Amino acid sequence: MFPLTTLLNEHDEPLEIYQTKIGSVGSWCWESAICLAEYCYDHMFDRFKNKRIVEIGSGTGIVGLQLCALGGNVTLTDREEYLELIDFNIKKNQNMLTGTAQGKTLFWGDEINENEDYFQNLDFVIVANCVYHSIELDELIKTICNLCPENSQTSLLCCYELRNDGIRRLVDEFHEKLREKKFSVHPIEQKDLRSKYQNDYNAIVTCQRS
Ligand SMILES: C[S@@+](CC[C@H](N)C(=O)[O-])C[C@H]1O[C@@H](n2cnc3c(N)ncnc32)[C@H](O)[C@@H]1O
Repeated sequence: MFPLTTLLNEHDEPLEIYQTKIGSVGSWCWESAICLAEYCYDHMFDRFKNKRIVEIGSGTGIVGLQLCALGGNVTLTDREEYLELIDFNIKKNQNMLTGTAQGKTLFWGDEINENEDYFQNLDFVIVANCVYHSIELDELIKTICNLCPENSQTSLLCCYELRNDGIRRLVDEFHEKLREKKFSVHPIEQKDLRSKYQNDYNAIVTCQRS
């Protein structure tokens, strides 16, 4: 286990997000997830307090924990095998969090049970680096639509690492599918990202469903 400690809570105390060298793509913090977490700290500092937030494909939980450290009540979700890492990171940062945080299993495409109160009436849904596999795109869209009903106030925040043409095409396809489901897609301008992320590699979009 090795920690990443570049993020700060609302009192400017450092978070420690632990990563592991064993495991798969969710075991470490992706660059654009750090970019999104820092963007939220820089530009949306006051927007998460007491808000209901779900992160899907959380991996280490980096973005969700940043929002929880800004006062959000966050449910961090992933495949079952990542729950241990998510819970570990919640525990390690407990003293830095001003909102509530919990880990839950959420497999893309699965139905959401009405009794799962933490998946209802959300203010924000976070999707960091989850668009990389064409096979799972429709399941991912289904889960996003379940969490963001039509005409809800739920804001969707997504980030990507545009590392090759294949991923660029997939992200374009993802945005097209979101538009078909009545989401508007708004790219964040590069000038609003920290200078180290002002390149063609990292991208953030915010989306709203009508
Ligand atoms: C590239 S990682 C991103 C991790 C983290 N969000 C970040 O940006 O640092 C993608 C994450 O999506 C999760 N994931 C992939 N397919 C999934 C599925 N069908 N259901 C739930 N989670 C899935 C993986 O387990 C992994 O944690």
